[in-house]
Amino acid sequence: MSSNIVWHNHKVTRAERAENKHQRPCLLWFTGLSGSGKSTIANALDVALHQRGYHTFLLDGDNVRHGLNKDLGFSDEDRVENIRRIGEVSKLFTDAGLIVLSAFISPFTSDRRMVRNLFPAGEFVEVFMDTPLATCEERDPKGLYEKARAGKIKHFTGIDSPYEAPERPEVRLDTSSMSVDDCVDHLIGYLLQRELIFESGQAG
Ligand code: ADX
Repeated sequence: MSSNIVWHNHKVTRAERAENKHQRPCLLWFTGLSGSGKSTIANALDVALHQRGYHTFLLDGDNVRHGLNKDLGFSDEDRVENIRRIGEVSKLFTDAGLIVLSAFISPFTSDRRMVRNLFPAGEFVEVFMDTPLATCEERDPKGLYEKARAGKIKHFTGIDSPYEAPERPEVRLDTSSMSVDDCVDHLIGYLLQRELIFESGQAG
């Protein structure tokens, strides 16, 4: 970063933006293997929150890689940059007062920690989609595991590129044993318990 760049504090603060929306912004960070259910569950939770009147935004790997990150591939270096950018974008959206749901494989512990450290305590909720590789591979919704096994895709997460599982995620879900509704109920329960959302709908 150039030393000639100076941070400007905005006149409307983060807290004031959130107050106008009657909600507490936070980031729900879904991590897990391809096919583990990140996008499905994030989408279903997004619908549930939206129906309750919350202002949300969903960022997910396949879509963001069509635009903002279309210059990035799947080398370790590019995955690090992918997550760095998404972390910063997620931060901007929460600064705008939104509840953000991000669904990226985000295979490296250090990158997830870097994103966590952008947020005040309690506002980063790591949701580990702990679905076994065998189930993800069996589902193979995009046919990518088959291609990876055949050597047609290199550096595929879980096959020839590592996934570092979170040790202490705030929420752990396994879609091989839980339905979509179970997962959404569990997440809503967590958000209520942490007072990130409220039984009566929006805050104050
Ligand atoms: S991340 O590792 O950088 O966090 P991201 O979530 O953005 O990955 O993108 C993952 C999606 O890209 C997968 O769901 C899959 O559809 C596609 N993809 C294509 N090539 C690969 C690969 N080598 N490894 C993992 N996913 C891949």
